Amino acid sequence: MDRFSPDFRNLLGDLMRWRRDVRRFRTDPVDEALLRSCLDTFLLAPSVGLSEPWRLIRLQTVSARRAALDNFNDANAEALGGYDGERAQLYSQLKLSGMQDAPIQIAVYCDESTTKGAGLGARSMPEMRRYSVVAAITQFWLAARAEGLGVGWVSILDPARLARDLDVPADWTLVAYLCIGWPEKESTNPELETARWEDRRGALMIEAR
Ligand SMILES: Cc1cc2nc3c(=O)[nH]c(=O)nc-3n(C[C@H](O)[C@H](O)[C@H](O)COP(=O)(O)O)c2cc1C
Repeated sequence: MDRFSPDFRNLLGDLMRWRRDVRRFRTDPVDEALLRSCLDTFLLAPSVGLSEPWRLIRLQTVSARRAALDNFNDANAEALGGYDGERAQLYSQLKLSGMQDAPIQIAVYCDESTTKGAGLGARSMPEMRRYSVVAAITQFWLAARAEGLGVGWVSILDPARLARDLDVPADWTLVAYLCIGWPEKESTNPELETARWEDRRGALMIEAR
């Protein structure tokens, strides 16, 4: 059965080539049904032991968003302090979140103590639960892109401060802060490559001894 035709495979490649981390958003709203249909990909995602450990907190109030944005600004200033010279100069010019404008913002957590899946696959490596959340986010990212939406992953945050501000249970770990909305522009190149921060190299595989 050739369910996924060569044309489909080409389009899938295009989808991955055109997926970007988006930090510049138009402010027009995103239809709720469209967002829901993209979030449905979480039901299709792999997870260790079928634990589905992802927990999503949507930030809609001005105060919650303000707290998250202040958190980012402080963490970003601290990160800038870790660079010197030209690197610092370049870093200061990067736009590293769309939190100012993105119409939809969701903090994605991993529930480290979920009983779903009865611990299968996570006994010796509990971090597999977090990797499951990452896998689900990646699927969501592609599904959103296929709808023309942009997704930006923000990690420049103090997770303890965000947990306090959002009143998050102690056994949840922050995996991603996602900004979602209509992108200002499209590109096949990562913004960090265009800004000459870093280049892509792809997979490096070595032979086992
Ligand atoms: C785990 C993770 C955390 C990231 N955190 C940030 C971030 O805090 N700020 C940012 O601008 N981009 C962030 N990114 C986006 C990366 O910079 C981006 O994926 C990379 O430069 C490649 O660009 P592309 O996603 O457009 O292909 C993050 C991506 C991942 C996977």
